[in-house]
Amino acid sequence: MEHRATLIPGDGIGPEVTQAATRVVEAAGVQVNWERVEAGADVFVKYGTPLPDEVLNSIRTTGVALKGPIGTPIGGGFKSANVLLRQSLDLYACVRPIQTIPGVPSRYSDVDFVIVRENTEGLYSGLEHRVTAGVVESLKVVTETASLRIARYAFELAREQKRPSVAAIHKANIMKLSDGLFLECARRVARDYPEIELRELIIDNCAMQLVTRPEQFDVLLMDNLYGDILSDLGAGLVGGLGVVPGSNVGSECAVFEAVHGSAPDLAGQGKANPTAVIRSAAQLVAHLGEIKAAARIENAVVTALSDPAYQTGDLGGKATTSELTDAILHNLD
Ligand code: NAI
Repeated sequence: MEHRATLIPGDGIGPEVTQAATRVVEAAGVQVNWERVEAGADVFVKYGTPLPDEVLNSIRTTGVALKGPIGTPIGGGFKSANVLLRQSLDLYACVRPIQTIPGVPSRYSDVDFVIVRENTEGLYSGLEHRVTAGVVESLKVVTETASLRIARYAFELAREQKRPSVAAIHKANIMKLSDGLFLECARRVARDYPEIELRELIIDNCAMQLVTRPEQFDVLLMDNLYGDILSDLGAGLVGGLGVVPGSNVGSECAVFEAVHGSAPDLAGQGKANPTAVIRSAAQLVAHLGEIKAAARIENAVVTALSDPAYQTGDLGGKATTSELTDAILHNLD
């Protein structure tokens, strides 16, 4: 069966790693007719927006996309295309599995949890203004509707994956109303899942627990900003940003992308680790219903990475993007 999907190569290392991923999907025997559209910093220079309508229209039509990272200027310039994309398509759940990969160098050997991040509001609502010279306000928006639906997503995922607990991460001791509402919604949803324990952790304690005993966690439920930060921390527990995949899921569409950014320091050098985007593509393939092919890709990645000769610079090795990709392709045979 031939599938349709949108492909956004993105900025920096994006084109290199998404190309590696589409090669792997093809070699796994999954026929995808990729509709290629451009978004990001270069597009902004040409069209005055980092996210042209054709990108959103394409994803609305295909229902699924593989996306490379998109750079966002710091302190000024255009609004994040990533945030715009997630909000425009209501991709409310950002899901990032953080799992030890055998053979990939890391301080831990038994990490296995999933971050479920609310993806549409919080401090990413983009509502900032200058009150007067030297004073700005940034609004953290928390709604009952979005908090209940992300909590339900986390508990459903825990049930489906037979994970015994969901930890709601908050700072409701300080942000009593906003984080208080988020936490209250998690408590309400938890009542429908008596077999799953609801844990509650203040974000600062959670950060410490993650680096001392990461094996205690199953599903971590949190708001937009906390999820962004703890995703990178989580990546650091299992080998780094080069290996962790992710998805942004809504009721109509899903966009698959790595946790990492455009890594401008590596762009165009053939040194980027393609693993995170290849594993994101494997999740896309599973989403399309090609479960066996997705498992084959995941196994081929793990086998390739178990040999230090195929590990890229971020993992302490010397392999190039194409050497690791070729090893993964070879393992699919
Ligand atoms: P980054 O994730 O691009 O890079 C952080 C560090 O990790 C760098 O040392 C980089 O070389 C390394 N790294 C990242 N991906 C790698 C890979 N696949 N292989 C090997 N090493 C890798 O984060 P940074 O530097 O904070 O952001 C750069 C740009 O990316 C910014 O404009 C930011 O806004 C954007 N960004 C985009 C995201 C997205 O599109 N979803 C997510 C995060 C950042």
